[in-house]
Amino acid sequence: MLPTIGWEDGEVVMIDQRRLPAREAYVRCGTAREVARAIRTMVIRGAPAIGVAAAMGLVLELRRSAASGTTQLAGEFYRACDLLAATRPTAVNLFWAIARMKRTFAGAMRAGRSVDEIRGVMDAEAARIHDEDVASCRALGRHGAAVVPAEARVLTHCNAGALATGGYGTALGVVRAAVESGKRVAVYADETRPFLQGARLTAWELVRDGIETTVITEGMAGSLMREGRVDVVVVGADRVAANGDVANKIGTYTVAVLAREHGVPFYVAAPVSTIDLATPDGAAIPIEERDAKEMTHLGSARLTPEGAAVWNPAFDVTPARLVAGIITERGICRPPLADSLKAVCDAAPAPTPA
Ligand code: MRU
Repeated sequence: MLPTIGWEDGEVVMIDQRRLPAREAYVRCGTAREVARAIRTMVIRGAPAIGVAAAMGLVLELRRSAASGTTQLAGEFYRACDLLAATRPTAVNLFWAIARMKRTFAGAMRAGRSVDEIRGVMDAEAARIHDEDVASCRALGRHGAAVVPAEARVLTHCNAGALATGGYGTALGVVRAAVESGKRVAVYADETRPFLQGARLTAWELVRDGIETTVITEGMAGSLMREGRVDVVVVGADRVAANGDVANKIGTYTVAVLAREHGVPFYVAAPVSTIDLATPDGAAIPIEERDAKEMTHLGSARLTPEGAAVWNPAFDVTPARLVAGIITERGICRPPLADSLKAVCDAAPAPTPA
């Protein structure tokens, strides 16, 4: 499996997603501050992956703390939580993972554990968050494979693959599971301006796996669909609101509108940790705006003239009415999404298959 993030010699090591596919370089983080920086600067990106990274960043903070007592440890821990929560606003998995780590920390404090015992408990919780994410991707992949025809051309946007998760991927998890079940799948990867997650990362992952991949610019998706060359769209999500509106990489909404126009089913693949029942609809989802330089420059080359303003929202919202289903590890939520999302969140997690 792809080495998105892991431990090495007491440090958190991440593949540097800014450098792929040209270079397979790794970034090492020894503090929560360094993990926060890696998230903000997109060394690691993708909703579930940044949740996993935040949990590991908190472990780093606890391990390096010189606190002599649990009260001091708690102060340092909660400051690191705030630091990590301030990195990127849209993907709810980040806040979900931090909240889960906070609950575990508070439980250990209530139980009267020592500083060393708390470290052990928190190490184990971060490892569980990572392992469960991979298991969720595999389970949702198996559910999602059912919506992929036996011979399918799948269009995807951004990168919702192993690189964007603890491993295996959500949208690409569906593709991988379909291939593993014997289906013949070819993928169209939207280039995904301006950070090029599709052209660089999705294409890199799929080529490595030997899955047929064609990169297109997002402006080409409409023509491709009109020519009847897309059977199904599968994308990931950064946050699914209670009514089924979906925030995902900017350009996803355009793909969903095109899919509706051309009668192509549009699916979203996301673990339950991406569903945010506390956010009523898409209008309430905070949308990150990133540095204009991501658009005005490609590397060091300037693309736009000085003086031209740019608008760089990193995400958009696809209304629930355009979504055929939300593929989770507990099954596929079908419209009406408000009901099926609530049901899937209330349901007990499926047992992990042996
Ligand atoms: O800005 P990014 O690269 O973090 O955006 C990532 C996406 O929009 C993904 O589609 C989403 O996080 C799902 S990842 C399984």
